[in-house]
Amino acid sequence: MLWIKSLHIIFMVTWFSALFYLPRLFVYHAACDDQPGNERFKVMERKLYRGIMTPSAVLTIFFGTWLWLGYGFAGDWLYAKLALVGVLVIYHFYCGKYVAAFKNDNNQHGHVFYRWFNEFPVLILFAVVILVVVKPDLF
Ligand code: HEM
Repeated sequence: MLWIKSLHIIFMVTWFSALFYLPRLFVYHAACDDQPGNERFKVMERKLYRGIMTPSAVLTIFFGTWLWLGYGFAGDWLYAKLALVGVLVIYHFYCGKYVAAFKNDNNQHGHVFYRWFNEFPVLILFAVVILVVVKPDLF
């Protein structure tokens, strides 16, 4: 089990590195007004979303589910954690929607919006790690 948990935590870290970096690229891309810069950001965003963020999300959830179902974990902490992971997956898909909007030169938001958008995963990270390590009785 510890090998699976190690892989779960490793891919969680790579997922979060992209969840923190991609919206930061959106902040600078939304403020960018030169064409070479615009094209460079499109390449960086596409490679980060498809090459790191999405595979990391799939592997975090795969190894987490293996831990959950393979070793019989249960409890309020896990159900609360799964709900927050669900929110994180929705956030992940919104990032994909914004990657596509920038790719099609159809971005609708300014850099201030993306600065707030960028902060959201921090809240999820704090909550999920506290839930899984402390395992508080919630209900
Ligand atoms: C569907 C998604 C997920 C499932 C089913 C899942 C399930 C689990 C389970 C069953 C454990 C073992 C708990 C234990 O050994 O006490 C675990 C450990 C862990 N999970 Fe997840 N997890 C998921 C996603 C995540 C995400 C998104 C994060 C990060 C924000 C995360 C962070 C952790 C950490 C840090 C541990 C190690 C806890 C420890 O060793 O005490 N997991 N996960």
